[in-house]
Amino acid sequence: MSVGKKEYKRVTVKSLVDMKKQGEKISMLTAYDYSMAKIVDDAKVDVILVGDSASNVMAGHETTLPITLDQMIYHASSVIRAVNRALVVVDLPFGSYQSDPKEALRSAIRIMKESGAHAVKLEGGEEIRESVKRILNAGIPVMGHLGLTPQSIYKFGTYSVRAKEEDEAEKLMEDAKMLEKIGCFSIVLEKIPAALTKKVSESISIPTIGIGGGRHADGQVLVIHDLLGMTHEFNPRFLRRYMNLYEEMSDAISRYVNDVKSLDFPSEDEQY
Ligand code: KIV
Repeated sequence: MSVGKKEYKRVTVKSLVDMKKQGEKISMLTAYDYSMAKIVDDAKVDVILVGDSASNVMAGHETTLPITLDQMIYHASSVIRAVNRALVVVDLPFGSYQSDPKEALRSAIRIMKESGAHAVKLEGGEEIRESVKRILNAGIPVMGHLGLTPQSIYKFGTYSVRAKEEDEAEKLMEDAKMLEKIGCFSIVLEKIPAALTKKVSESISIPTIGIGGGRHADGQVLVIHDLLGMTHEFNPRFLRRYMNLYEEMSDAISRYVNDVKSLDFPSEDEQY
């Protein structure tokens, strides 16, 4: 998989299933714009998710609900223009697939046609089965998303760990098996107990991608702004920050402001 910049082998839905078979963990990160997607792709992340978390980190909304299909397509097309290697998966936003399977298919087709993305992701299990089937029948690869599903935040009322109780854990397992059976290529498991992630991952042949689901998932996903420390008020236990970019950027920007105010910038060498 790790190949030189010019001979990249593209990551496909099949590569992900092969990675699971071979015991190679899958790396997935979000990106929403060209410049970030270029860095993420060059760093050889396997899957780039144009998540509806763009609603939070790009647009500043409290939830993922307000982002529209047009806005998701805008983000996805910017990402696609940057990517040479990763598989690009795009979230179907809230309101673009829940009412009926035909609407779900229309939304998925718009994403694929207008952005050039490689696959879509939908939140939910049994309740969206017909929509997922309709999209799959059109030849569009689908990634599932179970556990904490942020588009249903007002139903749950909280972002706390899901499926701790046996009946919810059983439903999640059934939903995972159903999504595998109808043809999804992978499933995100968000914020569920590690033991349940292990059980699900061992029970299905398609890869699970965890976020707050522990180490037994077949891959991991994080929101890029969280990993880089650009967000600093969000501190869940599952998050590992690799940088404190908020502070580094604040410091750089403050120094620029000072340099402008003190006439230090631009210098003689920085003018024509
Ligand atoms: O929108 C998103 O970023 C996601 C991930 C958190 C899995 O769905």
